[in-house]
Amino acid sequence: MASPPTACRLAVLLLGVLCSATAVAAARYAPADNHLLACGAEAPAVLPDGRRFVPDSGCASTRLRSPAPTLSSAAPPGSTPPPSPLHASARVFSCRASYDLAVRRRGHHILRLHFYPFGPALSASRFHVGAGGLLLLHNFTASSPVVKEFILPVDSDVVVLTFVPDSGSTAFINAIELLSAPEEIVGDIGTLVTSGGAAQIDGLSSQVFETLYRITIAGRKVTPFNDTLWRTWVNDADFLVGTDSANYKVWSFSGRIAYPKGSRQMTREVAPDNVYSSARSVKPGANVTWGFPVPAGSRYLVRMHFCDIVSKALYELYFNIYINGNLAVKDFDLSSSTGFLAYPYYIDFIVDVEGEGMLKLAIGGLKQSRSDEVSGILNALEIMRMNKTSGGMDGNFPIALDMEYGVSKGIGEFARSLLCGFIFAGLFVALVMLVLRLRTELRNNGTAWSWKPMDSGEGKLAKAYQLVPSKADY
Ligand SMILES: *[C@@H]1O[C@H](CO)[C@@H](O)[C@H](O)[C@H]1NC(C)=O
Ligand SMILES: *[C@@H]1O[C@H](CO)[C@@H](O)[C@H](O)[C@H]1NC(C)=O
Ligand SMILES: *[C@@H]1O[C@H](CO)[C@@H](O)[C@H](O)[C@H]1NC(C)=O
Ligand SMILES: *[C@@H]1O[C@H](CO)[C@@H](O)[C@H](O)[C@H]1NC(C)=O
Repeated sequence: MASPPTACRLAVLLLGVLCSATAVAAARYAPADNHLLACGAEAPAVLPDGRRFVPDSGCASTRLRSPAPTLSSAAPPGSTPPPSPLHASARVFSCRASYDLAVRRRGHHILRLHFYPFGPALSASRFHVGAGGLLLLHNFTASSPVVKEFILPVDSDVVVLTFVPDSGSTAFINAIELLSAPEEIVGDIGTLVTSGGAAQIDGLSSQVFETLYRITIAGRKVTPFNDTLWRTWVNDADFLVGTDSANYKVWSFSGRIAYPKGSRQMTREVAPDNVYSSARSVKPGANVTWGFPVPAGSRYLVRMHFCDIVSKALYELYFNIYINGNLAVKDFDLSSSTGFLAYPYYIDFIVDVEGEGMLKLAIGGLKQSRSDEVSGILNALEIMRMNKTSGGMDGNFPIALDMEYGVSKGIGEFARSLLCGFIFAGLFVALVMLVLRLRTELRNNGTAWSWKPMDSGEGKLAKAYQLVPSKADY
């Protein structure tokens, strides 16, 4: 029998455990809107990060509208177990179709579109994707698996996500994520960097962003499992250009990353601790440069993340920041901006990329730094493309994105859906034949569908399907 003090201690202990459990639960970001759709799937798909993607048919907060039946397609038989359960199925559209995704809380949302072309028919499809009347992907083909991420301001109670096949083609999608973004991840003010200098501009919060690169500097890849917004951060080594390894040092930090108390701008949602716990430093009098291929003729947001995990005391780092050879910040003093070591900080730069289609970012160590070894650092990078017009990421194209609500359709609409029906039937027969042929080929040639990491040019986030010969017998 426990004596009263022991019972008391036990109660306190239990209370403590309960409290810390609640604190952990509260620390996890809970988006007000969180649509996770496994398109064309028959059963929910559960990811290693614990998220559950539900089939896109028969979901209360989502409605799929299409004038013609859509096709749910499964990965061809004989394919090796796909690395993600989301790769197993797709929905294929022969005509313009839309998903209506209900919005509970207006504001910025993160939209992720997963494309895993598991057959030649899907890799050849050419289509357009729009959301909220803005064309996100124009004449898009996914010849290798890719996730397209957008951050959009939402000012309505529904996000209409529309797929429009290019003439004579089809459209497809494997999975959709639409979740509320914490407001602090999108700022309104940025520093526009041009050859004429750097100047502050505002109005960023009304723009649409497409994520092209999300990089953790000198760190291990961070997967959605370790990111409260289920982002992926990849290592920077492949993007270092013309940089002598004598000019930099690689750092990793096992201490605690601190966040300014009560700050609404700098929270754990901006980037996970894992990303801030590593860095590359530059020595005085040298540059460390990274180069990222990007589509020319667009405006970009470059978010540079800094967290001083290298200094023993404040005011040891002084460095310059260059964007495409232009001085963006002179004599940057991180300590004055944060006031503490191991405090995260970021700067949003805006830059227009013309001709060469390359974004070159550099940190340059200054000779007057305290240390003769370390003068500046960079911990992480995000590169986002901004929309060109209010009509689309790539500009304005005459593609009808809105679909009428309701059942009253004119005779034209009826004729179109009839036509779509025929195309659909043809498509279905073609797919069945393809699957059958593939099966025979697999049997005859001993060829297997397998996975190989490949640089698809999509920010190295993607892996690609390749048809490689194997000895496996089916
Ligand atoms: C899409 O690209 C194809 C091939 O380049 C072209 O034939 C077609 O007209 C384009 N469609 C649109 C709507 O731009
Ligand atoms: C998550 O982060 C921890 C700490 O860095 C690491 O040990 C673990 O392997 C990561 N898990 C995944 C699934 O990436
Ligand atoms: C660092 O890069 C900037 C911008 O390209 C250049 O002006 C400067 O001369 C470089 N410094 C060194 C030491 O190479
Ligand atoms: C981008 O789209 C938003 C929302 O439609 C619009 O307010 C903004 O003006 C657009 N940006 C440009 C540069 O046209």
